[in-house]
Amino acid sequence: MKREAVRISGLRVRYAPGEDPALSIDALSVAGGERLAVIGPSGSGKTTLLRAVQGLVAPSEGSVTVDGARTVSRAARSRAFRRRHAAVFQEFQLVERASVLRNVLCGRLGHAPVMSSVLGRFGADDRAVALAAIEATGLSEFAHRRVDTLSGGQRQRVAVARALAQAPDLITADEPVSNLDPVIADDILRTVMGSAGEREIAVLAVVHHPSLATAHADRVVGLSEGRIVYDSAGDPPLDASALRRIYGRSLPPQIVQDVNARERGDEQRRSPRNVA
Ligand SMILES: Nc1ncnc2c1ncn2[C@@H]1O[C@H](COP(=O)(O)OP(=O)(O)O)[C@@H](O)[C@H]1O
Ligand SMILES: [Mg+2]
Repeated sequence: MKREAVRISGLRVRYAPGEDPALSIDALSVAGGERLAVIGPSGSGKTTLLRAVQGLVAPSEGSVTVDGARTVSRAARSRAFRRRHAAVFQEFQLVERASVLRNVLCGRLGHAPVMSSVLGRFGADDRAVALAAIEATGLSEFAHRRVDTLSGGQRQRVAVARALAQAPDLITADEPVSNLDPVIADDILRTVMGSAGEREIAVLAVVHHPSLATAHADRVVGLSEGRIVYDSAGDPPLDASALRRIYGRSLPPQIVQDVNARERGDEQRRSPRNVA
């Protein structure tokens, strides 16, 4: 059986004691190499789910494990464990005044001996891995440019390249493309999911638009009021009624059509590559 990258069981997250949980997930597993997109309306618990997996919020009940270790535990605080999980944040969290290559090399910090990483020294192997990630994200010509001279889409690619260079088992990303224009958003998601697929990295990404989710993920999970109300692994393809279940109301026909078109893998609707 395939390794499990993430396993959630009996999870309840309450932000205040006695309150209804913001998140209630009885069971959810993400297989090694699986690319899962989470969709749902604002306030449905998407960020809470990601933060629980990232170990940034503790379960009130139940457990979340990543690579078999509970996210809130001593084991999860070790350097070796943290190296295996990379997060891509919406606000990039890059070193603005450093080059693309320097930023991507930061993804290698967990692999370098402690003393070298303190001194910011990297070996030839680390540079090779970083350059490969830069190439995979279409940034080769910018490798030596300072990050603060790049566009939003290019900077987001740097964040993705850094996550890939880390060679993790799992990438989590909370709405990594929601502030980018639709063409760049599509392109970056393709890069994350494609590169992760080649490297057998599991991805758990909150995606703000259902058609982006169906276009790029292996599996789509829909949250409503903190609960999973749709899972493409067991449910029929995402249609108008599933979208209504997730978003709590009927969506405009254009959105439903777009989701269906993506599910058919209609290539003509897809945007050109390398536009950022
Ligand atoms: N730090 C917090 N303290 C209290 N309540 C929170 C906090 N973060 C989120 N919530 C509440 O939990 C619910 C889910 O929020 P969130 O996970 O951010 O949803 P989403 O990312 O889907 O918009 C919301 O009702 C929100 O108000
Ligand atoms: Mg959120």
